Amino acid sequence: MGSGGGDSRVDLDRLYPFPVREFWLEIGFGGGEHLLAQASANPDVGMIGCEPFINGVAGLLAQADARGIRNIRVHPDDARDLLDVLPDGALDRVFILFPDPWPKTRHHRRRIVTMETLDALARVMKRGAELRLATDHTDYGHWMLAHIQRHSAFAWMAESADDWTTRTGDWPPTRYEAKALKQGEECLYLRIRRDGRERVVEKTT
Ligand SMILES: C[S@@+](CC[C@H](N)C(=O)[O-])C[C@H]1O[C@@H](n2cnc3c(N)ncnc32)[C@H](O)[C@@H]1O
Repeated sequence: MGSGGGDSRVDLDRLYPFPVREFWLEIGFGGGEHLLAQASANPDVGMIGCEPFINGVAGLLAQADARGIRNIRVHPDDARDLLDVLPDGALDRVFILFPDPWPKTRHHRRRIVTMETLDALARVMKRGAELRLATDHTDYGHWMLAHIQRHSAFAWMAESADDWTTRTGDWPPTRYEAKALKQGEECLYLRIRRDGRERVVEKTT
């Protein structure tokens, strides 16, 4: 994706040859099953997919072409670079589904869900926008929730004690999730709202 003119921020409206009602971003779409399903179910939404794994990107584009899906644009690289060039308050939904868990403590800093990423998301997401996170890794699930709770711009939308154990009907499955369920893993599904509050990150000592 290139930027729009002299401004360093991308002009999202110019990415699609037709008007779109909202912009949704999927970070790390892997094989692209969720992105394709969402794009197909929501043809009036401008979908942006971000994935550095080039085979995943090639597969997604081939599938989109074969199925006549025209509302997907791809950033074939690190999501953090893309977040830097998105305009303030541009996104209505963001999906980070089964991100690499980096289970070893010394690798935790490589996780995509960090205060820095949440801060960047807080800037580019509209007030009231939704962030969906999923993982089959218990420790990363706790990590995700702890980070959300420390960031004042986000709030967990849990309504009942167990609603993090199931996907909503408008949340298609992914390849990684299917593999995890087949292996008997439990999956965690988090729906997070970009609150109206300012971006204040709680400091740790
Ligand atoms: C465990 S896979 C899950 C793929 C897919 N979401 C699914 O559920 O099947 C994690 C994906 O995140 C991608 N990824 C890792 N770091 C990333 C980054 N910084 N920006 C965007 N994608 C990233 C990887 O290439 C990989 O495809």
